[in-house]
Amino acid sequence: MRPSVYITLPMGPEAVEMLAAHCEVTCREQDLPIPPPELGEALRDMDGLMLAGARLPAEVLAQASRLRAVSSVGVGYDNLDLAACTARRIPVTNTVGVVEETTADLAFALLLAAARRLPECDRYVREGHWRHWGWTLLWGADVHGKTLGLYGFGNIGQAVARRARGFDMRILYCARRRASEEIEQALGAQCVDRDTLFAESDFLSLHVPLTTETRHSVGEAELERMKPTAYLINTARGKVVDEEALVEALQRRAIAGAGLDVFEQEPHVHPTLLTLPNVVLAPHVGSGTAETRARMARIAARNLLDLLDGRRPKTVLNPEVFDQSVSA
Ligand code: 8YV
Repeated sequence: MRPSVYITLPMGPEAVEMLAAHCEVTCREQDLPIPPPELGEALRDMDGLMLAGARLPAEVLAQASRLRAVSSVGVGYDNLDLAACTARRIPVTNTVGVVEETTADLAFALLLAAARRLPECDRYVREGHWRHWGWTLLWGADVHGKTLGLYGFGNIGQAVARRARGFDMRILYCARRRASEEIEQALGAQCVDRDTLFAESDFLSLHVPLTTETRHSVGEAELERMKPTAYLINTARGKVVDEEALVEALQRRAIAGAGLDVFEQEPHVHPTLLTLPNVVLAPHVGSGTAETRARMARIAARNLLDLLDGRRPKTVLNPEVFDQSVSA
């Protein structure tokens, strides 16, 4: 019997065709996060799941008694209960190696936009305020030659560092594990402790996953340590930052500005952030380009087919489920 698979949102025909060649495919029609109770219902008779833009908590998993493979579309996996999948010996994959460059592009775009006040410039022109050239008009901050701090130095952090090289930036990073000497040399990046990172960065870009250790790891104390001329860029996860503390720091100009693609309670954005001119906002579109989304869908479909066929994809998040010596 062909396996049944569920896709949580329409990702274009290619992934559906790839899966439909081997499986019975059900794809949700709305491009909206599926609410967990609805996902639980949808998964009752499914063998495989392609998960994008939705949560997979333990209670949903409990309803999916036939489920034996999860392919998550993206790199962050704080939206799913990996431990509960592992307990059920359900392998979970993600799309490492696809979203990184595109997300780094957005991080750098936010950095430049915040430094050069692009949303304000755009509004100024559109709203007809531009009457003549002005010496002091909408001054921003230089980016070239400044210090970039990378909190987290995985694939995305390193991709941001590569972009910063072109701007002659000094690159500092702080990460759980120190990068190899080759990587440090190639990127001209220096490993520092957290305090130094926050104190010395002119632009601090976040690239840590959301875990119990990183949740609210950028809070009042860290923001206080930053320069009043510094900018915070977040394309990682909203909950890494204490949003209330960030709003407060921005309001009293403890830091100069921020570029944010992610928020604590998406799609809710702290109402004060919406009123602050020194903040550039984006609606979690880090990997949002046509090319990258198509590749994500293709790779996620390939990963799901591999899992359902008993093959082991490169990016299994819980490889221990394949270990025969561990009992379920
Ligand atoms: C995904 C993301 O689009 O890869 C990630 O971690 O944040 C995004 O690129 C999102 O996870 C959708 O499921």
